[in-house]
Amino acid sequence: MTKTSDLGLLVRAARAARVRAYAPYSKYRVGAAVLTADRRIFTGCNVENATYGATLCAERSAIAAMIAAGENRPIACAIVTEGPVPGAPCGICRQVLAEFARDMPILLVAEDDRGLVTKRRRLRLQELLPHAFRMAR
Ligand code: THU
Repeated sequence: MTKTSDLGLLVRAARAARVRAYAPYSKYRVGAAVLTADRRIFTGCNVENATYGATLCAERSAIAAMIAAGENRPIACAIVTEGPVPGAPCGICRQVLAEFARDMPILLVAEDDRGLVTKRRRLRLQELLPHAFRMAR
């Protein structure tokens, strides 16, 4: 079970990471945060690139920070985008999240340009990516 207070901290961390996004091309800032079984929080933001294709999404950036810190058990993920509706993680990010968790709550939060929350949604990784690829042999 994930405590509500942990989820509040997780959303706060994702909102803080969103401010640091590098998104000069799309101007669409995304912040993400993962909570691990050890109750540690790792954050990420989107890092765009002039080639466009080399852009890194916020969710994968948070997962990379988690792995670099020696953790590999995320139990919840928060993603913050601009509004009016929160953006859901892209397909590649869903698969990367699914590498480390069969299922977990995914909190989607939208903010307006003053940084006020406009909309929240709570989904599960299983609904976002049923039948994730796993190498079964
Ligand atoms: N983006 C994310 O950070 N996460 C997603 O799951 C989808 C898209 C970023 C990439 C790019 O910098 C911007 O949003 C617009 O696509």
